[in-house]
Amino acid sequence: MPESTHHSPMAIVNPQADAVPAEAKPSRRGFMRWALRALQAIIGAVLGVPAVCYLSQSGPRASGRREFRRVARLSEIVERGMLSPNTGKRVYEVPVWDTLRDAWTIFPNEILGRVWLVFDPQVPLDPKRPESALTAFTSACPHLGCSVRYALDADQFVCPCHAGVFDLSGDVVDGPPPRPMDRLAVRLVRDQASPPNRPDYFVEVRFQEFLPEQPTPIPKT
Ligand code: FES
Repeated sequence: MPESTHHSPMAIVNPQADAVPAEAKPSRRGFMRWALRALQAIIGAVLGVPAVCYLSQSGPRASGRREFRRVARLSEIVERGMLSPNTGKRVYEVPVWDTLRDAWTIFPNEILGRVWLVFDPQVPLDPKRPESALTAFTSACPHLGCSVRYALDADQFVCPCHAGVFDLSGDVVDGPPPRPMDRLAVRLVRDQASPPNRPDYFVEVRFQEFLPEQPTPIPKT
C-alpha cells in the first residue's frame, strides 16, 4: 500500500501559539517597545541635561564669587588678632575659601583671596550695622595687587613691593598706591550656640577683587 500523505493535526500545532492568542502578540511587543523608548528618554534627560549645563561652562567657575562668605568668628578676632599698640584695635588676616569647578574637575578649598579684619572693641557693637566697629579690607594692594601686611611695630599696613603704606583706616600714608585699601561689605550672623549673655557672631564678607592702578575702586568682572 502506498504510504499515506496525511499528517496528524498534532504535528503542525505550535504550543506557544496556543498559549498566546495571535492578535495579542503585536500589541504586547508594541507596548514593550514603547516602554523601552520611554525609559531611554528618561535616562537621557536625567544624564544629558546636567552634562550639557556642565559642558557649557567655560573654564573654572566659582560657586558665586560675590556671595557673603563666612571667614571667622568675632571672638576669634578678639582672641587671636594682633593688638594695635596705638588704637587698641584687633587686626586679623583671614583667607577666603571657595570651591572652583570646571567641566571635568572640582577644586575644593581654593583660596579666592585674603582679607584684613580690623575690629575696634571700644566701639559699641550693633550686630545689624557692624561697620562702625568692624572693617574688612581686601589684602590686595590697590597699586599693583601685591599682598599688604600689617606691621605691628609701625602699626600700619605696608606693601613690600613698592613701599606703599596705609593706616588702620586703609588710607594711604605713603608710596604709590592711587587709592585707599579696598573695603568689603561685612555682616555678622549670630552663632545660635553661643550663650545669651555672651553672644558670639560669625563674620561674613562679600569678597570682591578690584582693578589696580585706578583712583577709585572698580570691581573686576
Ligand atoms: S603693589 Fe603695593 S605699592 Fe606697588
